Amino acid sequence: MATKVIIDTDPGVDDAMAVLFACLHPEIELIGLTSIFGNVTTNIATRNARVLLELAGSDVPVAGGAQKPIVQASKEVAWEVHGHDGFGTLPPIEPKTLPHRLSAAEFICAEVNKHPGEVVLCPVGPLTNIALALELDPTITEKVKSVTVMGGSLAEGGNVTSYAEANIWQDPEAADKVFAAYWDVTMVGLDVTHQVKCTPDEFTGLAEASPKLGGFLNKISQFYFDFHIEANGFRGCYMHDPAAVISIIRPEFFGTEPKALTVVNDGERVGETVVANDNRPDIAVCLKVDEEAVRSLFLETIKSGS
Ligand code: RIB
Ligand code: CA
Repeated sequence: MATKVIIDTDPGVDDAMAVLFACLHPEIELIGLTSIFGNVTTNIATRNARVLLELAGSDVPVAGGAQKPIVQASKEVAWEVHGHDGFGTLPPIEPKTLPHRLSAAEFICAEVNKHPGEVVLCPVGPLTNIALALELDPTITEKVKSVTVMGGSLAEGGNVTSYAEANIWQDPEAADKVFAAYWDVTMVGLDVTHQVKCTPDEFTGLAEASPKLGGFLNKISQFYFDFHIEANGFRGCYMHDPAAVISIIRPEFFGTEPKALTVVNDGERVGETVVANDNRPDIAVCLKVDEEAVRSLFLETIKSGS
């Protein structure tokens, strides 16, 4: 039976890869997208999420998320990584569908209560909506199947600063609340996503095999590939968000260690994920990955699309 998943997302180029993968893979039942700031503003994320689902022919709802972090002031969005409108150099696309009437936090709580024990929450942006959902209904910790976070870094260092990974850096207090709660969390951080890369040629292959969906990903990824040259010294891309979604259905592709984590919330190291010394629960931190298996599953799944 397919796994019910809600992806909390800030699309964003690698978010688009993750969302289309989730739409196409038969072992995932995508039951909703919730939008958040990070790569773009929340309003652009809400729009882009609807565009992705329309492209995939999916009628899954999109619930709009928070406009700002739960404590700190908003930080700048990563337009230099994903483009001003989140899809590289593509101009804004206006979707036909409207956002869901519920907020992201309300939608998450409603769906988790409707399907107790079945829903995997997969935040691939800042954890603001997840923290707000926890505040709205603390019992969701007993009802979610699990939480798979794309974010953080234990030994790999950061990508926004030397210490902090982008999703955690955008809302440190929210991330700390998610890591401190008593539920089943897996952290898919830079320790593994920096091992999973794709090349521009592989995306050309996606466009040839899947002109609509693969073609869209190839088009929006060119700007993202260029960013990687200056930031990481190679033309291509890290597969951050697709790796997180893939870990839900192929946990065997990843090696984890139990660690209790907290998040630095001020100073030079703000947003750094570090081992906690309070009595919070361990989470499963991904430290190893079969990068070839992750990459191959992503590529073959997108190629299966139209
Ligand atoms: O650090 C990488 C993460 O930040 C990815 O989720 C990317 O989409 C951005 O949100
Ligand atoms: Ca993201």
